[in-house]
Amino acid sequence: MTRPRILLTRRWPDEVERALSARFDTTLNLDDHPLSAAELQQALREHDAVLPTVSDRLDARVLAVASPRARILANYGVGYSHIDVDAARAAGLTVTNTPGVLTDCTADLALTLMLMVARRAGEGERELRAGRWRGWRPTHLVGSRLSGKTLGIIGMGRIGQAVAMRAQHGFGMKVVFQNRSRLGPAQLGTLQATQLERVEDVLAQADFVSLHCPGGGANRHLIDASRLAAMQPHAFLINTARGDVVDEQALVEALQAGRLAGAGLDVYEAEPQVHPGLLALENVVLLPHLGSATGETRVAMGMRVVDNLIAFFDGRTPPDKVA
Ligand code: DGY
Repeated sequence: MTRPRILLTRRWPDEVERALSARFDTTLNLDDHPLSAAELQQALREHDAVLPTVSDRLDARVLAVASPRARILANYGVGYSHIDVDAARAAGLTVTNTPGVLTDCTADLALTLMLMVARRAGEGERELRAGRWRGWRPTHLVGSRLSGKTLGIIGMGRIGQAVAMRAQHGFGMKVVFQNRSRLGPAQLGTLQATQLERVEDVLAQADFVSLHCPGGGANRHLIDASRLAAMQPHAFLINTARGDVVDEQALVEALQAGRLAGAGLDVYEAEPQVHPGLLALENVVLLPHLGSATGETRVAMGMRVVDNLIAFFDGRTPPDKVA
């Protein structure tokens, strides 16, 4: 029996590439270069499955490729706003993602950013490595503490809840949140968190705002100039969700004008490009999209893709089908 032909758009953990190669006729991206639109279209024409990541733009134009062979886009990642799901559906493609397995690591990274920006860890490290540290003194790099502060969460799905748990149980923070649907006590479990009606209500109360909603669609620039103005001037903005949720230009202007205490960012509007205004600011911590970047999680994400593909090619509904 011929094995389905699959293509991975980037290098994946060895263990997962081996598991895929054992079952499928697998094309690897040996030099790990980001695929161009033309290469993505070639992949769609020549493979039964294309396995993209957040670095691939699968928009309506790319998906309109003539005579595609592909029947499934098995995405490596939970977020899939880089895929035009309607266009994929129209092209007869099933789309899957990898929920659940990266919740803890992404939540840990949100806390990392909160601590780094509030405690000025990036500034301190830059100073020390540059040989500019002049020793301990009471007024040196004084930051803000997390303990007892209010954390505002936008998007209280799995990751939002994991961040809230850490903040509440680890740092004694009060948690307020906004979510599209109303969450009941069963979903919140041991979490003491107050759901507020509007994004603005959360922004007005929070000392730290952490974003955990999907990117794309109506969430593009959800945090725009007017919402940034609704935040308290001593507050910090944390984004581990998707870059386009924040209007980066408006964020730079708010930070430059001192209307916000700082920001901790793991995602950007035009990755891997970062707004030069952000690079110039000391009170911003900038990480290169590391939310899920632990060995355990990256393997688990890959194995989730393996399960989705096996189900699909066995004629079953993949467990993580999103379209
Ligand atoms: C995710 O899973 O959404 C990560 O951000 C990588 O795409």
